[in-house]
Amino acid sequence: MSFDLKSLVGARMGENYELHSRHLNPTLVEVLRITGFDKVYVRAEGAYLYDSDGKAYLDFLSGYGVFNMGRNHPVIKQAIRDALDLDLPNMVQLDCSLLSGLLAEALLKKTPPHLEAVFFCNSGTEAVEGAIKFARAATGRSKIVSLKGCYHGLTYGSLSVTGSGNFQEGFGPFLDDVARIRLGDLEALERLLRKGDVAAFLFEPVQGKGVNYPTDDFYQKAESLCRTHGTLVVCDEVQTGMGRTGKWWAFQHWNLEPDIITVAKSLSGGFVPCGAIITRRTIYQKVFNRLDRAVVHSSTFGRNNLAMTCGLAALDVLENEKLIENSAVMGKTLLERLAALQSRHTLIKEVRGIGLMIAIEFHEPPQLALKLAWRIMHRIDHGLFAQLVIVPLLSRHRVLTQVAGHNMDVIKILPPLIITEREVDYFVQAFDEALKGCRRFPGPILELARNTALRRVNRKYHRNGSEHGEEPRRR
Ligand SMILES: Cc1ncc(COP(=O)(O)O)c(C=O)c1O
Repeated sequence: MSFDLKSLVGARMGENYELHSRHLNPTLVEVLRITGFDKVYVRAEGAYLYDSDGKAYLDFLSGYGVFNMGRNHPVIKQAIRDALDLDLPNMVQLDCSLLSGLLAEALLKKTPPHLEAVFFCNSGTEAVEGAIKFARAATGRSKIVSLKGCYHGLTYGSLSVTGSGNFQEGFGPFLDDVARIRLGDLEALERLLRKGDVAAFLFEPVQGKGVNYPTDDFYQKAESLCRTHGTLVVCDEVQTGMGRTGKWWAFQHWNLEPDIITVAKSLSGGFVPCGAIITRRTIYQKVFNRLDRAVVHSSTFGRNNLAMTCGLAALDVLENEKLIENSAVMGKTLLERLAALQSRHTLIKEVRGIGLMIAIEFHEPPQLALKLAWRIMHRIDHGLFAQLVIVPLLSRHRVLTQVAGHNMDVIKILPPLIITEREVDYFVQAFDEALKGCRRFPGPILELARNTALRRVNRKYHRNGSEHGEEPRRR
């Protein structure tokens, strides 16, 4: 019988977590089970995920920012079908495909005129890796300066410059010609640049971990220092690009003129991995500077037709549906509505963000009982409080969100840019309720503890079962 994907999915939907426990990442499965995030979503459309009972979940995570256009956008789906129907030659490699040329042309129409050349790859981390190589090749220098708290990906170059979380633990050694400065520390930047060995100053205009960004002219001054000292400015727009912050690119909020930008995530509307490095022609040509170096930096799948098709359709959707304008308007509304909750919830320290990249930070409340609860939770685990907000948001209100980084009292929302007042209303109300629940200490913490304990007992039971020769449970 020929392969039938629909029957396969129909027959085995629901085995998701067991399959992953057995064949992929059981540690992730355990985390999802403890937190109650082990839902089986069977369908997705726009801003919503659906389970097998047809219950809708509001997706304010957007796959970490890949679904700016919403999930399963019909225009992008149709474009994929059309690309398949055309039976185009794909990845001939020793040719120049039409679709990659068209997507490069379309992307460059959305970037400032000094950026004239595009390199396509498959992910955000690969775009950052490439940007580091381009900067080194163009300047003949080796050092990269990044920001504390930054996140640029998890392959060796990008992980070496990343300055947040425990992502590096156990994986060293890394690129050693890296320095990290505090966001806003111009003096430290100048001290480093003056040595004349810095190839690039690399930063996310709005940091993904924690949603931090300068509220002054730090970036403009940093850019001007970079120009003085011959250092390239590299903006990592992997998460902030494609309209996320209410402009095409986040660097536009500070009127910057970066030498290189990196793009990925929503570039393909969430369908096919796709990344890009966009840079000045002079920089590009310093990489591909001789005939024998024509493919000195390349990636087999880099310009594949489906990724390019999705990219073309995604840009079209952003433009035609005015999603960037919507991101700015809905972002402003959300920020205002969430900030208004501050007077009711002393737990909220700050609501910050640009466009639809928003963080809500919590702090120790003044009320005695709550203060005590806060301190106990932080003794147990520094990242626990934010978990206590996102868990009921999902379990009680069916809203998917995330904590903003390791050991932070911050949650982050990245809604798709298609949201309307309806989703804003729903989220604000759900968040209000979830915070009310957090005040009923120790209720939420007990819920999390009970899940953890149940998982431990379960695991022990299974381990003992296998030790005694029983087959692990299979469906
Ligand atoms: C700013 C930034 N750069 C790079 C990356 C890495 O992208 P990817 O996960 O596609 O490798 C991410 C991913 O979250 C990101 O937010």
